[in-house]
Amino acid sequence: MAMRSGFKSRFGFIAAAAGSAVGLGNIWGFPFMTGQNGGAIFLLIYLICIVLIGYPIMVGEIAIGRKTQANPYGAYKALGGRLWALVGFFGVLCGVMILSFYNVIAGWAFGYFLEISFFDLLKTEDYGAHFGGFVQNVGANMLFSGLFMILTAIVVVRGIQNGIEAAAKIMMPMLFVLLFILIGYGLSLDGAGEGINFYLNPDFSKLSITTIYTAMGQAFFSLSLGMGALITYGSYISKKENIISAAGIVSAADTSVAFLAGLLTFPLVFSQGIMPTEGPGLVFIALPGVFEGMGSIGPLIGGTFFFLLSLAALTSTISLLEVPVSFMVDEWKISRPVAVIILATLIYAVGIPSLLSQGAVPGLTEFVSYSGGPKDFLTVILNIFNEVGLPLGGCLMSIFIAIQWKTHNLSEEISFGNPHYKGSFMEKFLNVMITFVCPVVLAVIVTITILQKFLGFEIV
Ligand code: PHE
Repeated sequence: MAMRSGFKSRFGFIAAAAGSAVGLGNIWGFPFMTGQNGGAIFLLIYLICIVLIGYPIMVGEIAIGRKTQANPYGAYKALGGRLWALVGFFGVLCGVMILSFYNVIAGWAFGYFLEISFFDLLKTEDYGAHFGGFVQNVGANMLFSGLFMILTAIVVVRGIQNGIEAAAKIMMPMLFVLLFILIGYGLSLDGAGEGINFYLNPDFSKLSITTIYTAMGQAFFSLSLGMGALITYGSYISKKENIISAAGIVSAADTSVAFLAGLLTFPLVFSQGIMPTEGPGLVFIALPGVFEGMGSIGPLIGGTFFFLLSLAALTSTISLLEVPVSFMVDEWKISRPVAVIILATLIYAVGIPSLLSQGAVPGLTEFVSYSGGPKDFLTVILNIFNEVGLPLGGCLMSIFIAIQWKTHNLSEEISFGNPHYKGSFMEKFLNVMITFVCPVVLAVIVTITILQKFLGFEIV
């Protein structure tokens, strides 16, 4: 196979993979899920999931990608034949479905950037009510999410070097700096201590099976695992790259941003008397209050925050779109621009029911009922792919490495760029995790999630 044109530099790959990982999952998803699942105990389980399961899966994905230089479908096909290729295809499908709703939420972030910067959002009386109205505004959301999809498409058409790499390098560091500034400000508010307690002092009585599978799903989502995004990005890196350290940096960057987002959100939530269990609107409700409190610089700081959040989302939507695009380009020999146009249009359309499910259309807002109440369409798709699809993809990938590709071939691939890998502690750790721990733990979690959450069995 011809060598693909890849990332220009080591930092380019790390920035792009971290850009894929860091996104709405960290700043929007992680705080609201932590709030709904008992606070600090969720954080603790989340960290365990990252280290024991997420990191090994990330290394495995990048290695499969670099070895095969192909999209997820092509990668599994090259190493395992037609049947295994279905796992890769399932990943491509997960990418399509996740992007469909992700793009809608990215549209919210973009809309908040515009409203705060140019339309006096910060003069609103009740931010909860404002958010409720905002997400029901079909025209505005069609426009914002449409613009967002177009931006994503433009970057993906430009390809790896000019688009993805260049975009990621500037945006990521800026986001970190702003988070730190805002956290400092948030911690100085009355009631911040209560938020810190909720976030950092675990209450073990709140530990439940729901906490565990929600944390696992979130770990996969946040690290962009289980659907082949990192197989795809891994296919563009050189043999000189040290996969072990690159995956370490990406995981650490992603986890830090999620942690910081929590450290920002919970003091604000408690100081403003918002319920931490508020759900998907949490960040959109808690943050404007603090920007308002900053007086005349509020719109600037708030606008910048939501601008950076939109950019973080953009580096993630790019990776989500890149997966099915690389599939179409490699497997069906369609040109990149045509594949991008077809997929962007299709995925935008698939996202419309999610967009309408936030109050605009009653039948989609209360779409089906499970795990204690009616769920809107967007939440259904999020639950299916976040909590089942991605961990299932990770489970199958680890089984694939263990029984088909074999860990000695994994070690061989990792050794390029890391000559001391063979015989190291890291090699033993990863092999044990990928061969035994990941398949078993993930299979159990996926089964329990389906039984308990979707089929209503009482398990614990
Ligand atoms: N990791 C991204 C986020 O946290 C979302 C994502 C999931 C991107 C899966 C690519 C693949 O926002």
